Amino acid sequence: MKKLLIKGNKELNGEVHIGGAKNAIVALIPASVLTKGKCVIHNVPDISDVRILLDIMKSLGSEVIYKNETLIIDNKNLHNELIKQEYASKLRASYYFMGSLLGLFNKAEISYPGGCIIGSRPIDIHLDSFKKMNVTIKEVDGHYLMKSKSRLKGTSLFFDFPSVGATINVMIAATLANGVTKIINAAREPEIVNVADFLNSMGAKIKGAGTGEIIIEGVEELHDGEVTVIPDRIEAGTYLIMGALLGRNFKVSGLVSEHLESLLFKFREAGVKYKIKGNSVYISRTRKLNAVNIKTTVYPGFPTDLGQPMSTFLTQCSGESIFEETIYENRLRHIPHLNAMGANINAFEKKAVVIGPSKLVGRKVKATDLRAGASLLVAGMVAEGTTEISNIEHILRGYENIVSKLNKVGADIRLIDED
Ligand code: UD1
Repeated sequence: MKKLLIKGNKELNGEVHIGGAKNAIVALIPASVLTKGKCVIHNVPDISDVRILLDIMKSLGSEVIYKNETLIIDNKNLHNELIKQEYASKLRASYYFMGSLLGLFNKAEISYPGGCIIGSRPIDIHLDSFKKMNVTIKEVDGHYLMKSKSRLKGTSLFFDFPSVGATINVMIAATLANGVTKIINAAREPEIVNVADFLNSMGAKIKGAGTGEIIIEGVEELHDGEVTVIPDRIEAGTYLIMGALLGRNFKVSGLVSEHLESLLFKFREAGVKYKIKGNSVYISRTRKLNAVNIKTTVYPGFPTDLGQPMSTFLTQCSGESIFEETIYENRLRHIPHLNAMGANINAFEKKAVVIGPSKLVGRKVKATDLRAGASLLVAGMVAEGTTEISNIEHILRGYENIVSKLNKVGADIRLIDED
């Protein structure tokens, strides 16, 4: 187990370059299973979720080479295997193997998916959709056994909630299905477009990704494919929040500013000074920030994954900000830790009232999940004195080389072993 020691209140100056999106690559790797050919994926972030997915791919017989941010997957020896609990439970995205194994083999055996404990996180929309595509699903010995007698059947689906995971999973499964699948009220996140582009590069026929209605015309087989992972908008947003609180002409490069409109809009409202130049944003600390209200919701709304880091930003704004989480039940578990560091936040279920600005001070705190960890890291960087964050495996799962990236631009962060 590792922890982070952060000496706070250091100005950030220089450039941080954004890596490939975690939530895209964790779907692209399982999606590659649909072809027995070769796939080349560029801009692959070096995060632990990727390593776990590659272990799963190897257990299915894939040959993988991962070097210099490029991943080559050769599936000529691919076979169908149970995805064991030791793999599946390590990350949420292991559920994408349901769609791809069902698509290629009409059968998938997979243990229950893991991921951050930020709510009950059911996968009923995924399972109900597969059932409507003629898949029978049983739970046997702690894993799902999913089967269809022949190719999955294309069908029309309506999602009660535009789930990111279910949209991608169904899109993957429907690619090799018999007939046309339509998803009404699909999620519209940019990662979904990235996955559709990849599948289309392999010969899939997917239209409408990025809109609320996706149409997938099933094809019989796929060929080789190639794709570049889109920049991680959550990583970019986290560094921009740090820049707004501590930057001096701090540059966050390699991002797509259109994917961050909701954050940039809130920055303008709060009075943050920034400039967009191509794929970079230059951002500097603003001494007097206005209180703003944040309500997380589906894309293009304010992303739930940036809500927690943004709540740290709100502690530095003058006045009362309302923070509301609408996607998950347990996204406020970091609040007691922020309060221990000097924040003034009253949390009620999924809502919090943040009164600022507060002078934050270094304390010993714990990362309860990935984005809670990011929120405490931002707080530690703003605080006077030293902050110690334990349980930081969560942070390392989602942010590529975060310690070295931040130290290079002036932060003082050490990764040390827990005693
Ligand atoms: C993905 C992201 C996660 C992000 C979330 C919302 C990945 C690997 N993770 O998670 O970082 O926070 O999108 O942007 O890409 N739900 C159901 N039934 C389902 C599916 C979802 O009730 O079958 C509910 C969930 O409990 C949750 C909400 O819908 O309350 C959002 O879930 P979803 O959009 O599916 O998120 P994930 O794909 O799990």
